[in-house]
Amino acid sequence: MPPAEPTTSATTGEDGARRRTVWITGAGSGVGRAVAVTAAAAGARVALTGRRPSALAETAELVRAAGGAALELPADATRDAELQQVYAEVSRTWGPPTDLVLAAGLNHPRRYWRDQTIADFRAVVETNLTAAAAAVDLALPDLRAAGGGVVVFVSSVSGWQFSPDAGVAYSASKSALGSLSAHLNAQENRHGVRACSVCPGDIDTGFLGLRPVVPDRDDRAQMLSPADVARTVQFVLDSPPHVCVNELVVTPTKKQG
Ligand SMILES: NC(=O)c1ccc[n+]([C@@H]2O[C@H](COP(=O)([O-])OP(=O)(O)OC[C@H]3O[C@@H](n4cnc5c(N)ncnc54)[C@H](OP(=O)(O)O)[C@@H]3O)[C@@H](O)[C@H]2O)c1
Repeated sequence: MPPAEPTTSATTGEDGARRRTVWITGAGSGVGRAVAVTAAAAGARVALTGRRPSALAETAELVRAAGGAALELPADATRDAELQQVYAEVSRTWGPPTDLVLAAGLNHPRRYWRDQTIADFRAVVETNLTAAAAAVDLALPDLRAAGGGVVVFVSSVSGWQFSPDAGVAYSASKSALGSLSAHLNAQENRHGVRACSVCPGDIDTGFLGLRPVVPDRDDRAQMLSPADVARTVQFVLDSPPHVCVNELVVTPTKKQG
């Protein structure tokens, strides 16, 4: 792992302003990668988490090529010990993250009651919901101590309205992210912590390969791009501290199906 850039101090820039460090899960591909590149272009340091070190290295390369600073922190977000280690590492290097974008996600081609297994169900819920809660749990004391920060949950349109084909576990876990976000706002806005559930429709990423019927090129051409979602996330990150963007739904203009 290449060394992270030296800084004036762990958390402040040369002008004394608090420097933004965005911790991104699912950063090795798709939305997470696009968020990393967009946030870095806006001046943030980005801490990148996902299971595949090679995918994180590719994202880090893109960030550095654009003049940004990236820290590669491979981990399985469903494993508490790994997540704790990652959090400790980013804190040691740059200070605690100032913002979180939780994009790690999982679905399964066997997504109906008739064909899912409880093992599939558990894996989806642990990745989409429990791992996101665990990341917030790690960061919350530091966010509070710093006077606030933004937490973006990358949910789904299926977490916003009933989507019968998205999957039992997927829809349930993404719907619950909305609740996680609302609870965070209800309990932590007073400490400056702001949460947003971003609910995108179809995005042209590798995630589509997890569908029972994989969309073809023509279908994909109608979808959102990862950059579209990253722009939405950046809007949330850039909103001033007195503004809490609770939920955003972003869908392709020409809807699928
Ligand atoms: N594509 C869509 O149509 C769509 C629509 C709405 C919402 N979303 C949501 O958008 C988010 C990003 O998905 P995407 O479309 O960008 O697909 P993607 O490229 O497949 O991204 C998913 C990422 O999650 C990471 N991940 C999965 N399990 C993980 C784990 N246990 N620990 C750490 N990282 C893990 C994967 O990296 P590793 O395999 O290296 O761990 C991967 O980088 C997901 O939460 C998804 O539910 C997608």
